[in-house]
Amino acid sequence: KKVVLAYSGGLDTSVILKWLQTTYGCEVVTFTADLGQGEELEPARKKAELLGVKPDNIYVDDLREEFVRDYVFPMFRANTVYEGQYLLGTSIARPLIAKRQIEILRATGADAVCHGATGKGNDQVRFELSYYALEPDVTVIAPWREWDLTSRTRLIEFAEQHQIPIAKDKRGEAPFSVDANLLHSSSEGKVLEDPSLPAPEDVHMRTIAPEDAPDEPTLMSIDFEQGDAVAIDGEKLSPATLLARLNELGRANGIGRLDLVENRFVGMKSRGVYETPGGTILLAAHRAIESITLDRGAAHLKDELMPRYAELIYNGFWFSPEREMLQAAIDLSQKEVSGRVRLKLYKGNVIVTGRESPNSLYDQELVTFEDGAVAYDHRDAAGFIKLNALRLRTLGARRRRGA
Ligand code: ARG
Ligand code: SIN
Repeated sequence: KKVVLAYSGGLDTSVILKWLQTTYGCEVVTFTADLGQGEELEPARKKAELLGVKPDNIYVDDLREEFVRDYVFPMFRANTVYEGQYLLGTSIARPLIAKRQIEILRATGADAVCHGATGKGNDQVRFELSYYALEPDVTVIAPWREWDLTSRTRLIEFAEQHQIPIAKDKRGEAPFSVDANLLHSSSEGKVLEDPSLPAPEDVHMRTIAPEDAPDEPTLMSIDFEQGDAVAIDGEKLSPATLLARLNELGRANGIGRLDLVENRFVGMKSRGVYETPGGTILLAAHRAIESITLDRGAAHLKDELMPRYAELIYNGFWFSPEREMLQAAIDLSQKEVSGRVRLKLYKGNVIVTGRESPNSLYDQELVTFEDGAVAYDHRDAAGFIKLNALRLRTLGARRRRGA
């Protein structure tokens, strides 16, 4: 048996690595992805080697550009938020990790894949739906659903027995469970489990508090081409570089914090604290460029489709025909979504101050309160309103008869 493990280099996945070797007698291939989580990856390679993984079986890949270009940006074309607020930072990363694991499975002739998500969450579903969609007969190992290391204490005992290095602060109970990438950081569990209590300030790792943000606003602009951000302040940037730059601007202005109780796919409610600084700026800017370049019918239809699309991503159905159908429609809507949006960032707020586009549908002649366009005759509005009022008047008449 040969198994490809999604390996972060942290305590949990290191224990999983050892557990696969000792309990399953597996040959382990580790895969560590750089998704912009801001951690060094070479220590993960070293640690895998130390734990007896053959150098040929250690994969460390920089997936930052692919992540932003092929996952984050397509999702932002739809202005996607789950349950009105969550920007899906964890949800959107899982299909990419799973896809790469399957590629490595094929390249190494392995027969199984393994992840470190628990049996209670969304992530297990997202990983495994993606594995099965891409490799229908793959064997999936989910240690958290199988092993008897059911407490932190037993996990640490196992680590000590097998000479797995444990960071000092991991010996005690870690105060919350974290997932991070270029789009967001999320924290859940433990001290955050009571949703009536405020999150401790030190949960936040990539934004300063809005009240600590500078008194001077930051003025900036984002350029879009066909729905995707391509430049900041006129400077062209690759997708990952651009998002990283937005994260810095957001961090310094206290933008993108969210404290949310959400509905997990498996059925329970969970409380999470998210930070999505760059994504929060990007969402506001994208809506602003759409506001002048999209027709009302197209704009309203994509807003109707969005919650469905968000739910598909949240629930792990990235690799599904219905997600691809919606994506095709959304992508088509973005053909004319190009231009520049000017923004003011100020103490946790993203304020749009201007938008312009060669493809703009905004017609000042048409909308002006001054004497305006010949294309619009005020008198037409009278009939327009009368016909729209017909039903309402009929209903009103019936109500009066009844009274
Ligand atoms: N609740 C979020 C989601 O389902 C984040 C899950 C991962 N977060 C974590 N702290 N392990 O997408
Ligand atoms: C986990 O259960 O591993 C993290 C939380 C989630 O997947 O929802």
